[in-house]
Amino acid sequence: MIPLLEAQNITKRFPGTLALDDAQFELRRGEIHALIGENGAGKSTLMKILSGVYIADSGEIRFEGRPVSPANPREALEMGIAIVHQELSVVRPLTVAENIYPGRLPTNRWGMVKYNDLFEAARRVLEQLQVEINPRATMETLSIANQQLVEIGKALSLNCKVLILDEPTSALTEREAEILFGLLRRLAANGTGIIYISHKLSEIFALADRVTVLRDGRYIGTRVIAETTPDEVVRMMVGRELGDFYPAKSAGRGQPLLEVRNLRLPGLAAGSSFQLFAGEVLGFAGLIGSGRTELARAIFGADAKAEGEILLEGRPVQITSPSQAIRLGLGYLPEDRKAAGLFLDMAVKLNIEASSLPEVTRSGFISPARERVLAERYVKQLNISTPGIEQEVRRLSGGNQQKTLVAKWLSIQPKILIVDEPTRGIDVGAKREIHYLLRSLAQNNVGVIMISSELPEILGMSDRVLVMHEGAIVAELDGATTEEQIMMYASGQQGG
Ligand SMILES: Nc1ncnc2c1ncn2[C@@H]1O[C@H](COP(=O)(O)OP(=O)(O)OP(=O)(O)O)[C@@H](O)[C@H]1O
Ligand SMILES: [Mg+2]
Repeated sequence: MIPLLEAQNITKRFPGTLALDDAQFELRRGEIHALIGENGAGKSTLMKILSGVYIADSGEIRFEGRPVSPANPREALEMGIAIVHQELSVVRPLTVAENIYPGRLPTNRWGMVKYNDLFEAARRVLEQLQVEINPRATMETLSIANQQLVEIGKALSLNCKVLILDEPTSALTEREAEILFGLLRRLAANGTGIIYISHKLSEIFALADRVTVLRDGRYIGTRVIAETTPDEVVRMMVGRELGDFYPAKSAGRGQPLLEVRNLRLPGLAAGSSFQLFAGEVLGFAGLIGSGRTELARAIFGADAKAEGEILLEGRPVQITSPSQAIRLGLGYLPEDRKAAGLFLDMAVKLNIEASSLPEVTRSGFISPARERVLAERYVKQLNISTPGIEQEVRRLSGGNQQKTLVAKWLSIQPKILIVDEPTRGIDVGAKREIHYLLRSLAQNNVGVIMISSELPEILGMSDRVLVMHEGAIVAELDGATTEEQIMMYASGQQGG
């Protein structure tokens, strides 16, 4: 049988990086084929070559048996190859419907956009995804999860033969991911070939028919999912045994660092109260939209509209801005690294120092020597793969961008660190490094609040778990709780 899409001997070099080194990939009609590898392994680059975003330096692509060389994304689309990129490419001020049909808006004979037709078509696409998104809403009013679903809707509307999804669930809840999986299975059953990039092994094992592993730009191998194990795949990815995924939990805890009393998010009747102790990792579980990020932002002074009391080490404080929060010893690693975390056009070193200026300035001037030492220390500690600290952050792979964001917040040496989805898009090896790092902060008496939508991560890391539902904390569970118990509270079936 002729493969649907085939890539052979693909090599791609960027200045300072050999992103792909004689890589290969084969996709059959009707299969879901997972692509996995550590951050920077070359997954996105290979997919961008298949979808016409980049041109390979050498190698061959065959589509339905014929050699092709898509020179740009439009040519790839015309052949039937669509991609949902890892980094969202939505146009924020436009409506959902216009984002689903960019450049293909239905017009009447005077060239005016037929908005009713457009909204109706978009509504049908969204209906397939079983999501309640108003096609007339502007993109910027949507959560990241919903923006991502719109991107997927856009690819679906193209009726493509090959659908490439680059980490599509990194911002989705498990329930939203399940809906997406159902849809992908239906598409595959109808003959579409699907390439699925994810760092979540459980997803890959639940969804895919085959998996291909890349390491350092090289092809390591392809396995039939039913004939391999997560351990084997991890070994292929990292080239070694990893050891325990999660560090040991805390043996005890110190004094209260933070106390939140009856903090009410705007427009809500119920308030939230909790304490954070030195030396603990406090997990925040809940569905997307349950208010975890809003609560964190309110504590960090990024949202002035919340009401309630905050005490730091027993003293009442009014935190009215993030810069004040940083001076008081709080750090907040936001969930959306692009919108709120990183300066993509700036060098790695400038991003790392951005929130720790006192450490690198001397009498108001940035000291280049200190800046270099600080940045190099974190690049080394977090194993950020970059040709150097002068590299622009946008040129790093997604996972290495996330590590740069972590470095930025470590560099302020906070007493309390709030991390919001800290390992989104991070490979198993780097994820483990970040987990051990958060735990070592806690061992050094930092109080860590970890918001995560990945239940295994919540269970693996937390000394205590708070569950949020509809804007308020509804349960406090100990670190030995179960996924079922958390989900029961998170979905509002119990408590409240
Ligand atoms: N536009 C670019 N300019 C320079 N280097 C790049 C560019 N795009 C990617 N790279 C480099 O090529 C290598 C492969 O990157 P790629 O984005 O394909 O990795 P990935 O496997 O998708 O990783 P992740 O899991 O983190 O998304 C990385 O070292 C990255 O820094
Ligand atoms: Mg990538």
